[in-house]
Amino acid sequence: MFNTLDDLDPEQRVLVRLDLNSPVEDGEVQDNRRFDRHAETVAELADGGHRVVLMAHQGRPGDDDFVSLEQHADILSGHIGKDVKFVADTYGDEAIEAIESLDAGEVLLLENVRMCDDELPEEDPEVKAETEFVQTLAPHFDAYINDAYSAAHRSHASLVGFALELPAYAGRVMESEYQANSSIATREFDGQVTMVVGGTKATDVIDVMNNLGDKVDQFLLGGIAGELFLRAAGNEVGFDLEGMDFFDDQWEANRETIESLLDERGDQIKLAVDLAYEDETEDRGEIAVANITEKDRPYLDVGSMTVDEYDPIIRDSEAVFVKGALGLFEDERFAVGTVGVLEAISETDCFSVVGGGDTSRAIEMYGMDEDDFGHVSIAGGAYIRALTGAPLAGVEVLKQD
Ligand code: 3PG
Ligand code: MG
Repeated sequence: MFNTLDDLDPEQRVLVRLDLNSPVEDGEVQDNRRFDRHAETVAELADGGHRVVLMAHQGRPGDDDFVSLEQHADILSGHIGKDVKFVADTYGDEAIEAIESLDAGEVLLLENVRMCDDELPEEDPEVKAETEFVQTLAPHFDAYINDAYSAAHRSHASLVGFALELPAYAGRVMESEYQANSSIATREFDGQVTMVVGGTKATDVIDVMNNLGDKVDQFLLGGIAGELFLRAAGNEVGFDLEGMDFFDDQWEANRETIESLLDERGDQIKLAVDLAYEDETEDRGEIAVANITEKDRPYLDVGSMTVDEYDPIIRDSEAVFVKGALGLFEDERFAVGTVGVLEAISETDCFSVVGGGDTSRAIEMYGMDEDDFGHVSIAGGAYIRALTGAPLAGVEVLKQD
């Protein structure tokens, strides 16, 4: 399939692409699971006596979270228990000097690759390989390692260009993410396969249903996407209240598709039977969907009756995939749906993959043990693409015939 670190010759000069893209609050980069995961690959390379140069991105030009990677170097260093040097340059003289002065076992992080003009426009790997960025850096290395599965859906220079110029390998994160996230498309399961689908984007849910409708026995819906399906099923929910901008545009764009999915796959699709809201005393209130005659407040979670219906379906499953949250789990009052399904998974001896945006964050927020899940993905957009069987540019260039 692809070469891994097991295939790497000793004492190489390696150029490694990580995905350290992280939330930034008031200018401060927030530690998260991505550092922890990539630390494994980096530590293995450093301990193996390689000269390790890291590339990563943060934010997008013009956005508040488009910042230097200086803080990322410190955070990563904490995770691997070893100094991570940083140079505020991507491929200029300063960067080359820092690269050339590395000793065996040392680690250096280059500046945010999106600060370099050649990185961003999405173009074919062959075009990216010819950029000045790739052509300048590649000759200083023996091997290119891509560990950034969660960014691999982007055809950017650091993700697709170097693989054409240097012997290319998959890092440990790339390997495990690829295997777990492709398993729904590649593995056969004897028993029931269930997919929990929530989050904010209707098109993600639609894509997953269109592509996996024959593999998945039950789709359990929630979140904003779930409310749109409830609207299509004839309920008085799933539209914007004043000042809201979640539902109506998505409804216009996807109404027909959602209606025909309900028509064709209705017996595979489970919708919430009750919803939760913030009541007059700021507590959690719940209402049966059947009793909603007029949407007069936002719904922020699925209700407990819904969790009671979803729970036994999960416990009867051989495999469960989670894409997106069922409610606003960051607020404890509205975490019942998301935590309910995650707890059912963690208590069941099934194969499971949890991913999609920040959903996996609920696992540590609510004290669950990551080891009780098959795989907790650090990918968002790449995870959705993998679930729907779409190729990832950065993975394709690593593949060996
Ligand atoms: C992510 O954080 O989802 C990946 O790093 C990709 O980032 P991007 O959506 O800005 O390309
Ligand atoms: Mg994420």
